[in-house]
Order: sequence, then structure tokens, then C-alpha cells
Amino acid sequence: MTEDFRFWADEHQKRVENFMMRFLKEESSNSLIHEVCSHGSLNGGKRFRALLCYAIGEISKTDKLILDYIASSVEFIHAYSLIHDDLPAMDNDDLRRGKPTCHVKYDEAQAILAGDGLQSLAFKILSTPKFLIDDQKKIEIIHTLSDAIGVNGMVKGQSLDIKATLKVLGIRELEKIQELKTGLLFNVIGSASYLVAKKPKEEIKVKITKLCLLLGKIYQITDDILDYESNDKVLGKTSGKDKKDNKLTYVSLVGIDEAKKINSDYFIEIKKLIKLIPGNTIFLTELIEKIYQRSH
Ligand code: IPE
Ligand code: IPE
Ligand code: MG
Ligand code: MG
Ligand code: MG
Repeated sequence: MTEDFRFWADEHQKRVENFMMRFLKEESSNSLIHEVCSHGSLNGGKRFRALLCYAIGEISKTDKLILDYIASSVEFIHAYSLIHDDLPAMDNDDLRRGKPTCHVKYDEAQAILAGDGLQSLAFKILSTPKFLIDDQKKIEIIHTLSDAIGVNGMVKGQSLDIKATLKVLGIRELEKIQELKTGLLFNVIGSASYLVAKKPKEEIKVKITKLCLLLGKIYQITDDILDYESNDKVLGKTSGKDKKDNKLTYVSLVGIDEAKKINSDYFIEIKKLIKLIPGNTIFLTELIEKIYQRSH
């Protein structure tokens, strides 16, 4: 990892967090639900989804003041999905980002409500008049995001993921579940952050969305591998949980070595694809490498 990338990533991580903090402050501060929302969203995530949004923006030097809205809304959606994913009715996890999960620190009702609140906040951010983009594009982003995280997307993926623990399914089904629960949000980041470029080109948009879908696969396979190989301290969440709960993951289905091989094949594919994208892809390339090599 170069010094330039480290600096860039740090700067943009702080940037999105400041923006998220500002938005959250505008909501009902000094209330319990505000505190739960802060705990669930400003609690030290890696912010890779926001960084992906800014890295795609670097390709055609998109105005960062525009990207802030997409980056923070996607991080709020992601935070909501994690709060609900950790609930007793779902994965029943008590550790997230090195801290107690929302339902453990507060209670289940507050955690459910915080997830609901953060989801609404994401759409409020995208629909505010301060998000200065063409109205048609704004509607397209809101529509694409709601579709990707709804009953055709992330929610469906989570529903299948919960059921999959009890059934014996194959690699195609697993791929589909992971695309729905994780990949589609990455896909939205790609299409939305390129849509707000000054002069988006259709053929580049197609490559970027393909790249983001591939990155979503790498992201979830790496998550499955880390659950198997890492520990609570490094991960900031409970390790070995997938095996304990008999979850359908790449590791449980094909074994650790084959999971790594599949992940490495996707990584090779993504590196080829990125070479076909013109413009400044330096940060995007390093970000993808960091995501592939991450330890938590
Ligand atoms: C965890 O996401 C859930 C997955 C979809 C794999 P991250 O590993 O990006 O979680 P944070 O945001 O850094 O905590
Ligand atoms: C979570 O996947 C996916 C979503 C929240 C949509 P996991 O259940 O594997 O994520 P972790 O391991 O709890 O972070
Ligand atoms: Mg889960
Ligand atoms: Mg989970
Ligand atoms: Mg996991």
C-alpha cells in the first residue's frame, strides 16, 4: 500500500464520518434513539463502501461535495443492515466493530428502531434539495438503492441466508444469496457514483457496475474466510460464528482452500477489468487490493 493511498483513505474516511455526524446531529439529538443510532453507525466501521464511492469519483474527478451524499447514505444503509443482522432473531451477535451490538448495549426494541431510523435517514440525505444534482438522476439513485436493498435485493438475501442455515444448497444458490445480501449494495455504489460524474459514458458505466458486483463477491467471500480464520480481537466481531451456527458460506460449502482459490480467481478477474477503465483508477486499484487483503 502506498503512502498516497493511506493518506487518501484516511482523509476520505474522516470526510464521510464528519458528514454522517453532521446529518445525524440534524436529527432529534439528545434522545435515546439518537444515541442508539450513533452507536450503530458512528462506531468505527472500515467505511469501505464510502471509500469505493470516492474512489470511483476519482476516475473522472467528480465533485466530492456531491459524492458525500451518496457515500454517507450508503454507510447509513450498511449500518442499519448490520444492526438488524446482529439481532437475536437473525445472527444473534453481541459484538460489532469491537463494541457491544445495539441490542446488547440498549435493547432489542431500540436496536430495531435505530435500524429503521438509519434507513430513513439514508433516503432523507439522498432526497434533500442540498444534494445538488439533476432531479432525474436523483430519482434514479433513490430508485436503484431502494430496489437493491428491498425485497428483490438485500432483504431477500438476508431472508434466504437465514433459511439457508438449515438446508443443503449448492454453489449457485450461495452465489445468489451473497449477491443479494452484499453485492447489490456495492453495485449501487458503482452506478450512483459514476452517474454523478460530469460526463458519464455508458460503456464505462457497464464496466464499473460489473467491477462493483465482483468486488461484492470478494467482499463476502473474504468475510466468510475471516470468520473461519481470524479471532474476535482482530475482527471486532465474534469469530467462528458461521461454523457454530451451521451457516451456508464459501468455507462450509467448498472448504477454506477452495474458498481462497475462488476469491483469488475473482481478484485476478477484477484486476483485468480495472485496466479497461480509463481515467484515474489508482485509488480504486489500491482500494480493491486492500479489500482483498484485509485482515478484518
Ligand atoms: C460486514 O461488513 C458485513 C458484510 C456485508 C460482509 P464490513 O466488514 O464492511 O463491516 P464494517 O462496516 O467495516 O464494520
Ligand atoms: C451480513 O452478512 C450481510 C448484511 C448485513 C446485509 P454477515 O452476517 O456475514 O455479516 P457479519 O459477519 O455479521 O458482519
Ligand atoms: Mg448475517
Ligand atoms: Mg452476521
Ligand atoms: Mg459474516
